[in-house]
Amino acid sequence: MRLFTFLALTLWQPSLNADPKSHYMIHCMGCHLVSGEGMPPDVPAFNSDLSFLASTEDGRRYLVQVPGASQSLINDAELANLLNWMLKKYAPNPETRAFTGEEIIKYRHDILADPKAERTRLFAAHH
Ligand code: HEC
Repeated sequence: MRLFTFLALTLWQPSLNADPKSHYMIHCMGCHLVSGEGMPPDVPAFNSDLSFLASTEDGRRYLVQVPGASQSLINDAELANLLNWMLKKYAPNPETRAFTGEEIIKYRHDILADPKAERTRLFAAHH
């Protein structure tokens, strides 16, 4: 019964989920590092590129669909919180619209065949 209550709260109450910073440390830091500098060119640095990507529909889809995000072992609401935390920390921009769980659900389960090619396309289209 207690386990059920715990699972129910975890799945249905985003506010009670583990905080996004802990999720980052557990699931993302191994490749992206605490500083977010990553390991370019393979793992891109988290910088203002993130807020640029978050400013278009295609870019938002990409941010959700990169394998590190879409295949992480956290639920949709948690992934939304995590991406929002990352955007605030690594690419602060008052114009960035927050991700919602619904937006994650919409994109997460379509597989992005070639993330690097998609990233190049997104930047070529706008720069
Ligand atoms: C095994 C290494 C690895 C882990 C772990 C990882 N990533 Fe990544 N991440 C990458 C690589 C490599 C890329 C570049 C795109 C690609 O080739 O997949 C990337 C790109 C990204 C991008 C796009 C950034 C940009 O500027 O293009 C986001 C957003 C992202 N990751 C989020 C996450 C999140 C959130 C987590 C943790 C839940 C995570 N990643 C865990 C390797 C990783």
